[in-house]
Amino acid sequence: MKHFTSVHDVDDLTKLVDLAFAAKANPNHNKNMGQHKTLILLFFNPSLRTRLSTEVAGHRLGMSVITMNAGQGWKLEFEDEVIMNSDKAEHIKEAAAVISQYADLIGVRTFPSLTDREADYQDRILHKLMTYASVPVISLESAIRHPLQSLTDLMTIRHFQKTERPKVVLSWAPHPKALPQAVANSFVEWMQAAAVDLVVTHPPGYELAPEFIGATPVEYDQKKAFAEADFIYTKSWSSYADYGKVLTKGSEWMVTPEKMALTQNAYFMHCLPVRRNVVVADQVIDSSASLVIEQANNRQWAAQAVIQSLLNDLL
Ligand code: CP
Repeated sequence: MKHFTSVHDVDDLTKLVDLAFAAKANPNHNKNMGQHKTLILLFFNPSLRTRLSTEVAGHRLGMSVITMNAGQGWKLEFEDEVIMNSDKAEHIKEAAAVISQYADLIGVRTFPSLTDREADYQDRILHKLMTYASVPVISLESAIRHPLQSLTDLMTIRHFQKTERPKVVLSWAPHPKALPQAVANSFVEWMQAAAVDLVVTHPPGYELAPEFIGATPVEYDQKKAFAEADFIYTKSWSSYADYGKVLTKGSEWMVTPEKMALTQNAYFMHCLPVRRNVVVADQVIDSSASLVIEQANNRQWAAQAVIQSLLNDLL
């Protein structure tokens, strides 16, 4: 694996998930693997889980880990061949090359604008960084994907699945803020590559980008979608068609105990952070069916597996 930005970078998905489980079973087994290597994490946007779990994973492998709040300080220019006489102090061309002098691996988190669909879906910040960096890049969530979250989710589903091919439902949820499509896009992409039956349910207007939804069935009736489900994965996202807009008000799509009762004793999943009693009722997230803390736990093992794989290819 040369970079980790989507499921398409992964040579062998089963092997990567196995590596994450091996890290979980024996966290310090490779404690010297990253000795004398440096992991630099650039956060253009906030994070709790991704930041801490990736730092922990790097430390467990013996790496030096440096985290920079890249959204603060001077602004970077990402356009090529521009006259830099505005407020941008440094071009990504120099910045990425300079960071590569200090880092063996670079992680980056960057959210979309949610105002310019074309620019967001080019995933410009991630791709410019990859173009000008000379070391492998790990996406810590980009404008359109969150692959570390999806790897974690796949790992969690694999651990809890009771049938060979579980029914997994990705259910849109209400939220007061317009949120990126990244988690949903990525989840769909990873589930399409896994041995599960995926159904996506959302109100009209929240269709995901065609390149992500592909042939995955969409059911506009949430209750129908929940029938016989083994896993309910809930996430809010803003509209792709009416780009970045929240089109639906009210709590009709919140996950409740009554809806969970329609499933096959399904587990409840969410990537966190979550708005209680907006996205999901307390009775569901606090129930024994909720896997949200287990998912957060698995973030560290997913990150460890990815870093190990990238380090292996460097050695
Ligand atoms: N799920 C997730 O990526 O959480 P953070 O935004 O806290 O990193």
